[in-house]
Amino acid sequence: MCIGGRDGRLIPGRTDLERHPDRHLKDIWKDTVEARERMEAVPIKFVPRGYGDTYRRDAWWVEPLVVFLVLGGFVVYATWAAFQNAHYTYGPYLSPFYSPVIFGESHHAWFGPKPAWWPALLPFSPALLILPFPGLFRFTCYYYRGAYYKSFWSDPIACSVGEPRGTRYRGERWFPLVLQNVHRYFAYAAVVFLFILSYDVWLGMWFENPATGRTEFGIGLGTLILAVNVVLLSSYTLGCHSIRHLVGGHKDEVSKSPIKDACYGCSSALNNRHQLFAYMSLFSVAFCDVFVRLCSMGIWSDVRIF
Ligand code: FES
Repeated sequence: MCIGGRDGRLIPGRTDLERHPDRHLKDIWKDTVEARERMEAVPIKFVPRGYGDTYRRDAWWVEPLVVFLVLGGFVVYATWAAFQNAHYTYGPYLSPFYSPVIFGESHHAWFGPKPAWWPALLPFSPALLILPFPGLFRFTCYYYRGAYYKSFWSDPIACSVGEPRGTRYRGERWFPLVLQNVHRYFAYAAVVFLFILSYDVWLGMWFENPATGRTEFGIGLGTLILAVNVVLLSSYTLGCHSIRHLVGGHKDEVSKSPIKDACYGCSSALNNRHQLFAYMSLFSVAFCDVFVRLCSMGIWSDVRIF
């Protein structure tokens, strides 16, 4: 058996050597080269397929369609919610779409209400100041890229299915898709957001007692929803390929640094389920906003567990 060398040459494989232990390697090599020279070259004509043409008989289009509906639905809802500038807090809870509130009317605001310098022509919402960071983090995620390239502009559409641009696919080595390489910087920002959202969970444990006017510790349904959201977001973020590389990927022998090795192992374990956590965290972050919004509008009631 021959195997291909790095430069495309055939080299004798282990079986050749085992079959002819008495022969010199040079002789086996010579036979191999001669055998290749005797091979007849069969020209194969490449015929580009039309868009969507395929011999596949499975329902290959279902997954891109579902991804299109889910991601499209999320983008529409998140955009609508971000422009509302209302119903983003309820009691101690704050919607993750609006966290942190840098400027705003809520008591969660870090620097007070909308600043006077805000251009009158621009709509104002605290969410618009912060959503670009988690939004672009997801937009540039390696998993989502693969998914929305297929679902939103079909390029590439699926294995063995004709593409809209024939053979001129240029991938991410060229503008504008080469800009996706900024992902690692959004990953660092996403880690900061994990701390902020964890702090929101802590704040979500302090309820005002209407009888005394004092705040007291407690756990409500909203606290649990916000906490689960942080767990899922952490599972998604810490399994990011860029974070995985940050914690251990640049070492030649990561096993020689026990702490890095442990972090790399944890990140790799989360990375194995990156697609799953990408969707679970997407649903949970939207659900948190829905919950806070509906409670604030009086449509849903929070439940105090204790
Ligand atoms: Fe998906 Fe970084 S690769 S979040």
